[in-house]
Amino acid sequence: MSNRRQALVTGGGRGIGRGIVLALAAEGWHVAINFRSNREAAEEAAAGARDAGGEATLVPGNIADPASRAEVAAATLDACGTLDLLVNNAGMAPRQRMDLLEMGEASYDEVMDVNLKGPLFLTQTLARHMVDRVDSGGSPGQIVNIGSISGFTSSTNRSEYCISKAGMTMMTALLADCLSPWGINVYEIQPGMIETDMTRGVKARYDALIDDGLTPIPRWGQPEDIGKAVAAIAGGALPFSTGEVIRVDGGFHMHRL
Ligand code: NAI
Repeated sequence: MSNRRQALVTGGGRGIGRGIVLALAAEGWHVAINFRSNREAAEEAAAGARDAGGEATLVPGNIADPASRAEVAAATLDACGTLDLLVNNAGMAPRQRMDLLEMGEASYDEVMDVNLKGPLFLTQTLARHMVDRVDSGGSPGQIVNIGSISGFTSSTNRSEYCISKAGMTMMTALLADCLSPWGINVYEIQPGMIETDMTRGVKARYDALIDDGLTPIPRWGQPEDIGKAVAAIAGGALPFSTGEVIRVDGGFHMHRL
């Protein structure tokens, strides 16, 4: 244990999660990097965190599985001693894009378990720790949920994903409300199109849409773009905001004429 500030980033081994890990590490944080199966990627992220001036510990586990989720929480508190920041980043797209009229219940359950139920109950466990810390005279932690523009944008070939991300916005509001007596602020970041493994399969299609002016800022977002936003929040940049949705989407959300 050290004097560093302590964070857990779920799904921190690659993509947006890794961008968040590296941004926090550059500010000196110790980051517990949760990953489900790709240890090599998580080890790379940890090495990058140390190179950036931070510290890192790997915390394997599947946040959709109750027993494994409990192990992630316990291992995090064991490695970190305490928790200043929880970043609920892990998420998945449906394995197969299916029209809403064809979507299967198994896919719905899987996506909802990973994207909504897992983060909610992981947060419940770790928020109790944050509450206890404040009750014992310690400082409040912060929570950042990684939502999506899909929380307000219909894509009928991945409805379960959209529903899970819409649910995350209410989860953010509920947690912000519930935890406000302890000064624990809760934020949601809604990324736009970010270049990661998740979007690899739709890259050519989205390249064309971006070229056609889909976003006022005409480029793909990168994991660092989300990392910078999380690091700003983690550094205390928004002390008078909670339940707040922060869009990091190149302006995608704007209605335009
Ligand atoms: P990715 O597929 O590259 O990475 C997802 C990460 O989550 C991986 O590290 C994976 O191991 C982890 N993960 C998945 N299921 C897990 C589980 N059950 N337990 C523990 N870890 C698990 O995806 P990407 O793009 O980095 O996405 C990260 C987050 O950002 C997700 O919540 C995603 O929905 C969200 N997002 C992504 C956007 C994009 O354009 N790439 C846009 C908006 C939101």
